Amino acid sequence: MKENQVLLLSSADILNLCPMAEAIEAVREAFILTSENRVEVPPRIHLDVPKSKGTSLVMPSHLPDREKIGVKIINLYEENPLKGLPFSHALMLIFEASTGQPLGIMEAGILTALRTGAACGLATELLSRPESRKMALLGAGFQARFQLEAVAAVRQLEEVLVFDQDKDRAEKFAQQMSTGLGIKIRVVDLAAEAVSQADIISTATTSKTPVFADKDVKAGVHINAIGSYKPGEREVPSETVIRARVFVDKKDMALEEAGDLIIPIREGLFSPDKIVAEIGEVASGKKPGRLTPEEVTFFKTVGVAPQDIVLGSRILEKATKEGHGTLFDFYHG
Ligand SMILES: NC(=O)c1ccc[n+]([C@@H]2O[C@H](COP(=O)([O-])OP(=O)(O)OC[C@H]3O[C@@H](n4cnc5c(N)ncnc54)[C@H](O)[C@@H]3O)[C@@H](O)[C@H]2O)c1
Repeated sequence: MKENQVLLLSSADILNLCPMAEAIEAVREAFILTSENRVEVPPRIHLDVPKSKGTSLVMPSHLPDREKIGVKIINLYEENPLKGLPFSHALMLIFEASTGQPLGIMEAGILTALRTGAACGLATELLSRPESRKMALLGAGFQARFQLEAVAAVRQLEEVLVFDQDKDRAEKFAQQMSTGLGIKIRVVDLAAEAVSQADIISTATTSKTPVFADKDVKAGVHINAIGSYKPGEREVPSETVIRARVFVDKKDMALEEAGDLIIPIREGLFSPDKIVAEIGEVASGKKPGRLTPEEVTFFKTVGVAPQDIVLGSRILEKATKEGHGTLFDFYHG
């Protein structure tokens, strides 16, 4: 790569370069660095576009360990799916930290899905019972594939029960994924049917209110919830949060954005000191994860910039080494 050249990476490049197992290792590094305060992460900007029911999240970060600065912009538009468009669009820019030189621009819808799946893969590896075999997947949209691939990478799944309010979407998803993964995937009519049988529950919906009832959650279950990122919205009921051991990606951000925790806190049912740990503290061995086979563990992730800069940098380095992507010179065309 010559001076001034920037590497452009498409979603296909990213998928070819980064299998889920590698994404999980990148995210493990990202969360450990986060919990050790070794990534500079200013609060992300929420820029609302009310006319179009959109939110633009601007997520900067500085990763001194790899001499990288990054910024991801992800635009989430709740009416896009009704127009046949993806719910989110995103780009990531990566710069050399010692000079400020631009190094790469990548499609970040796939990057985000990969690192979000990987976060839940890591949490499932660290917190779920090793003998977990049944997964309930609530939401069969864009993120769902990556949620399933990540859990399948760390646990020997025998059956996945999928529920989406759009049954056609769930059926298509089940068909595509069972061929690819070789796991039995069954669509169910009610969230309760999936949840009541599951050892692992993953929620990946755009719902603003709980997507399952606490009474349906068995003892010993591990829950991953990725959906809500606004204080007034949630996927998980208060009753489940109260009885679970709760883990987050980054505590300050979870308390700013995660309605799943903020709503029970406002109700006086939960408090910030009840968050057991950041997942990076469990990954580094500083804090324990699951203590007993009976307890419910809950990992809430709102998604943090270190996941993007660590995974993005790793993919960029690999692409440069292996000659993937398209080089572009912004100064000379
Ligand atoms: N935590 C993170 O790091 C992170 C990263 C990316 C996306 N997300 C979030 O993940 C969620 C899913 O994103 P996506 O791109 O897959 O969206 P999507 O629109 O492609 O899919 C969402 C699916 O949820 C379904 N759904 C909505 N309400 C439901 C309900 N009550 N019960 C069952 N299904 C329901 C919809 O029918 C749809 O199929 C969004 O809320 C997004 O903000 C989180």
